[in-house]
Amino acid sequence: MPLVSSLPLIKKAKEKKAAIAAFNIHNLETIQAVIEGASEERAPVIIQTTPGTLRHAGIEYIGAIVKKAADMVDIPVALHVDHCPSFDTIVHCIRNHYTSVMIDGAHLDYEENVALVKRVTEMAHAVGMQVEGEIGKIGGVEDDMFVNEDEAALTVPSEAKQFVEDTGIDTLAIAIGTAHGMYKGEPKLDFERLSEIEAMVDVPLVLHGASGVPDASIKEAIKRGIAKINIATELKNPMAKAIVSTFEKNKDENDPRNYMGAAREAVKKVVKEKIRLCGSNGLADEL
Ligand code: 13P
Repeated sequence: MPLVSSLPLIKKAKEKKAAIAAFNIHNLETIQAVIEGASEERAPVIIQTTPGTLRHAGIEYIGAIVKKAADMVDIPVALHVDHCPSFDTIVHCIRNHYTSVMIDGAHLDYEENVALVKRVTEMAHAVGMQVEGEIGKIGGVEDDMFVNEDEAALTVPSEAKQFVEDTGIDTLAIAIGTAHGMYKGEPKLDFERLSEIEAMVDVPLVLHGASGVPDASIKEAIKRGIAKINIATELKNPMAKAIVSTFEKNKDENDPRNYMGAAREAVKKVVKEKIRLCGSNGLADEL
């Protein structure tokens, strides 16, 4: 079916006390892995790309491939740009089939952040797109963004409420102790803070940095109101492992169909597991 907006998917998941898994993809094989895995699970799904991936693969290529992939299956698929700091890049994405966007002004002070997010939101709403914003600072590494432990800042509930009102965003990414990339120890999520934010904010909440978070914590976060879960590193790791293992078996391997085929299968397996963890399997039939 044609690409859909991510907001109705997220709202349906929230109503069902589930979350939509949003997978960061990098190339054709990872797109196929997500589409095939989600299709087999009958799960609505969000495919997303960071600006680094857009630079690597090209907005036009990603937009065209994901559009075609969505057309070929009968589950709802949304295409979302993740952590984008640039108004212009967001416009470029919207013109290339993207159906929702995240504007990231976390590097700016509050007033500048609000001004940027509001500008994007007004433009996006005018063309029927939804916007994810972020308040607080999620730690870790993603693309060329690096936020160390000292700079990471948990979301303040009153600030979250104010930010949503000031900007008009449709979904809110919050910092409650997760970080992008893998963790050294076990991440401790601030569930009390999550519940406080959920009680004060009207829009659905998004959890970034889900890779390496124990399943029980993901389930608790969903129970307390998280309705979209972002997963990147836990797809990258099995992909790299599958490629390495192909070359370990045959150091002269030179057929991309073999090593990329193995990578696609490894990624698809994790996609299916994460969808079940989020409880979004079967939801495609309720939309
Ligand atoms: P992970 O790499 O920790 O899964 O984070 C993904 C993410 O939040 C993308 O925005």
